[in-house]
Amino acid sequence: PIPEPQTTRETSFIGKMKKTGKNIVVFYGSQTGTAEEFANRLAKDAHRYGMKGMAADPEEYDMSELSRLTEVENSIAIFCMATYGEGDPTDNAQDFYDWLQEGDADFSGVKYTVFALGNKTYEHYNSMGKYVDKRLAELGARRIFDLGMGDDDGNRFVMSGVNFMVYLLSFIVCSHRPFDSKNPFLAAVTVNRKLNKAGDRHLMHLELDITGSKIRYESGDHVAVYPINDSVIVNRIGDLLGVDLDTVISLNNLDEESNKKHPFPCPSTYRTALTHYLDITNPPRTNVLYELAQYATEPKDQENMRKMASSSPEGKALYQSWVLDSCRNILAILEDFPSLRPPIDHLCELLPRLQARYYSIASSSKVHANSIHICAVVVEYETKTGRVNKGVATNWLKNKMPTDNGHKATVPMYIRKSQFRLPFKSTNPVIMVGPGTGIAPFMGFVQERGWLKEQGKDVGDTVLYYGCRYKKEDFLYQEELEEFEKTGVLTALNVAFSRDQAEKVYVQHLLKKNKEAVWRLVHSDNAHIYICGDARNMARDVQNAFYEIAEELGGLSRSQAVDYVKKLMTKGRYSQDVWS
Ligand code: FAD
Ligand code: 2AM
Repeated sequence: PIPEPQTTRETSFIGKMKKTGKNIVVFYGSQTGTAEEFANRLAKDAHRYGMKGMAADPEEYDMSELSRLTEVENSIAIFCMATYGEGDPTDNAQDFYDWLQEGDADFSGVKYTVFALGNKTYEHYNSMGKYVDKRLAELGARRIFDLGMGDDDGNRFVMSGVNFMVYLLSFIVCSHRPFDSKNPFLAAVTVNRKLNKAGDRHLMHLELDITGSKIRYESGDHVAVYPINDSVIVNRIGDLLGVDLDTVISLNNLDEESNKKHPFPCPSTYRTALTHYLDITNPPRTNVLYELAQYATEPKDQENMRKMASSSPEGKALYQSWVLDSCRNILAILEDFPSLRPPIDHLCELLPRLQARYYSIASSSKVHANSIHICAVVVEYETKTGRVNKGVATNWLKNKMPTDNGHKATVPMYIRKSQFRLPFKSTNPVIMVGPGTGIAPFMGFVQERGWLKEQGKDVGDTVLYYGCRYKKEDFLYQEELEEFEKTGVLTALNVAFSRDQAEKVYVQHLLKKNKEAVWRLVHSDNAHIYICGDARNMARDVQNAFYEIAEELGGLSRSQAVDYVKKLMTKGRYSQDVWS
C-alpha cells in the first residue's frame, strides 16, 4: 500500500502558540480580507507592548482547543469578526459559528475580547461580533475588554479599529497583574437606576459586578473609576484645531529624569489621548495658559493669556474671574480666543492626565461579596458664559446601562482602602450623619450591621441622620431605610427635609434637637461618629453642632468641647469621609 502523505498542516493553535512563544491569538472571520488585515495588524502590534501575537483563521484550526487556552501563560484570544450578508458569519467562520451555537464548551478562565466589523447602515450591524462576544461570555469566558464596534462607513472603520487596538493593547499589557490604579478591573454594570422620584437632578444607584476579579473590599472603602471624556468635546477640539484625530501618534516624555518613557500608553491617537488620558474639562492652570499664549496670533489675546499667567494682582484676578469663576475649560478657551490655535501635540503635552473619580462604596461585602454599589449625583451646571458643563464621570456613568444592545457595559475600576471603618466591636453604637449622597457609605454600614445581627451578634445602636430636599423627591433609599428601621437594624432613622417647609431643616438641627440622646451615646456608650458628604459647609456645621452639644450637656467651655471632639478623632471615634 502507498503510505498516506504526511500532513504538514498544524491544526493545533495551542501547540503553535507554545512552540513559537505567542500569548495572543487573533482569530478572524473575514470575507474580503479586511478583518484578516486587522487581525494581522493587531497580532503584529502586540510586540510593541511586550507581547507576542499570531493571527489565525478559525477554519484552519481546531477551535475546540479554545477551552485550553489557559495552558498558555497570560494568554488572550481576540476575535475580529466581520458580519456578512444578512447578519451571517463569513465563510471561514461558519464552522466556528455552528460549533459555538451548538456547543456546551466550558471556557472558564479564557480571556477574550471581540472587535466587530460591519456597516451601520445595515440592519444586522455587527451581529456576528455581538454574537461571538455574548456567546463566549455565556460559555464562561472572561471578557477583558469591551466589544469594539467597527463601522465601515467612510473612514470610521479605520479609526475605530486603530483606537480599539491601541487601547486594548495598552490595557492588556497589565492584565496579568492584580487590579490596581495602573491595572483597573473592567466591572460590568449590573444595575443603574435613578434614585430620586422627581426634581431636575439625577441621583443614581449603580452596581458593579466584581465576580472573578478576586477584588475584596470593606464597607467604608472607596471605589475609583476611570471615566472617559465626552466625544462631543473631543471632536470639537479636533475641529477647532483642524486635526485628524485618528492620526497615530507617540508622545515621548522630554523630561529625562522621568522613568516613564511616555506620559500614557503609546502608540496612541489624538482621539484616544483626548478621550481616555487627558483632562480636557477642568479649568487649565496658569502654566498651561502661559505656554499656549505664544500661539495666539491676536496680540490682545496673547497679552490677556500672559497676564492671567502672571503673578500680578490684576492678572490673578483676571484668571480667577475669566477662567475659574467662569468655569472655562480648554475648549471654551479655544472658542473664546479665536486666534489661539496651538499645535495639538503641544496641547496634549500640556494638559494634565484625566484622573480617576472616587465614590464611597454603598454596599457591604458581607452581603454583596461580588458587587460594589455606588450612589452618585450627576454633575451638570450652567456657567457664567452660558455654557452647560457636565461632570465627566457622572455623565458617563449615567449612560452605562447594564445591557446595551445585548452587550454589557463595563467600568474600569479599582479599590482604594480607607480609614472609614465600623467599630471593631459590634456592640459599640454608631451615629452616622450623611445628607445627600453622603448616605453612600452608610448603606454599606447598615447592611453590615444587619448582617452581624443575623449572625447572632450583639449589635449596638445604629443611628442615622440623613438629609434631603423634599420627602417626595429625593429621599434616597427610602424603602430600604424604612425596612431597616422596621426590622430594628436601624435603631433611629432621622431625616431632615430642608425644603419641605419655610425654614431650612438640616441634619445638624436634628442632632441638636436630639441632643440628650446624642450626648448619652457619645459620652456614656462609646458611640462612634461618622460624617459623610459635602466637605465645604456641612461637615463643619455638623462638627459645630457636636461642639455645642458637648458644651451644653457636658458643661464644657468651647475650647474644652473642641478638645473633646479632637480626642474622639484621635481615638478613631469621629471619622469623616467628605468631598467637595
Ligand atoms: P467633574 O468633571 O470632575 O466636575 C466636577 C467639578 O465641576 C467640581 O469639582 C467643580 O469644580 C465643578 N462644579 C460642579 N458643580 C459646579 C457648579 N454648580 N458650579 C461651578 N462648578 C461646579 N460623589 C458622589 O456622588 N458620591 C459619592 O459617594 C462620592 N464619594 C466620594 C469620595 C471621595 C473620597 C471623593 C474624593 C469624592 C467622592 N465623590 C462622590 C465625588 C466624586 O469623586 C466626583 O468628584 C463627582 O462625582 C464629580 O465627578 P465628575 O467627573 O462627574 O465631575
Ligand atoms: P438645601 O439644598 O435645601 O440647602 C443634601 O444636599 C441636603 O443637605 C439638602 O437637603 C441640602 O439642603 C442640605 N444642606 C445644604 N447645606 C447644608 C449644610 N451646611 N449642612 C447640612 N445640610 C446641608
